[in-house]
Amino acid sequence: MKLSTSILGIKDDMKKINQIEETSTDYLHLDIMDGNFVSNKVDMYQAYNKKLDIHLMVKDIKAYVERYHTLNPEYITFHIEAIDNPKIMIDYIHSFGCKVGISLCPDTDVNTLIPCLQYVDLVLIMSVVPGSGGQAFLSNSVDKVNELYKLREENSYHYKIEVDGGLNRETIPLVSKADVLVVGSFITNSDNYEQRVEEIQRLIN
Ligand code: DX5
Ligand code: ZN
Repeated sequence: MKLSTSILGIKDDMKKINQIEETSTDYLHLDIMDGNFVSNKVDMYQAYNKKLDIHLMVKDIKAYVERYHTLNPEYITFHIEAIDNPKIMIDYIHSFGCKVGISLCPDTDVNTLIPCLQYVDLVLIMSVVPGSGGQAFLSNSVDKVNELYKLREENSYHYKIEVDGGLNRETIPLVSKADVLVVGSFITNSDNYEQRVEEIQRLIN
């Protein structure tokens, strides 16, 4: 299992971001918000040293992809709730050589993703309401992980399953079928990032 560290809680502190980049986390998770799809507005466009996993919580997905693909992220993920024709956007993101993730909010049913599942490289299950860090894990996400795991097995799909929000040492064991975990405040609120990252890696590997 891989660890993707959300730097939302320390986004304005370059020194702390550098410290996260020095840990053994697999990815940096960038939470981009437009003040429209969600009420917060967050822009994190700058160069990073780690592999990037970009989570777009935006309405005008195309405009953000145009800008953020230049950071050469491994994944760009957008929300199914923000778009009418996801296949066009999946192809557009792939055309830049990035892997594509599709995300769903806690109230969105897994079935809405079915037409996209054969095309995407990642499914990001939101286990909190998108918009801010530090919220409590919503337990209906456990069923979604298991459902997406089963759908992948039955249909030989290739997507990775990512869970995002409220993950800590108590909630991580609930999502053991996932492939990538996004952890934000449990890492960025600790006073020793590397120690916390290693604790999580022991839990997931
Ligand atoms: C919420 C973001 C998450 C979140 C993770 O909108 O997508 O990435 O900030 O932070 P924690 O782990 O604090 O829930
Ligand atoms: Zn996120």
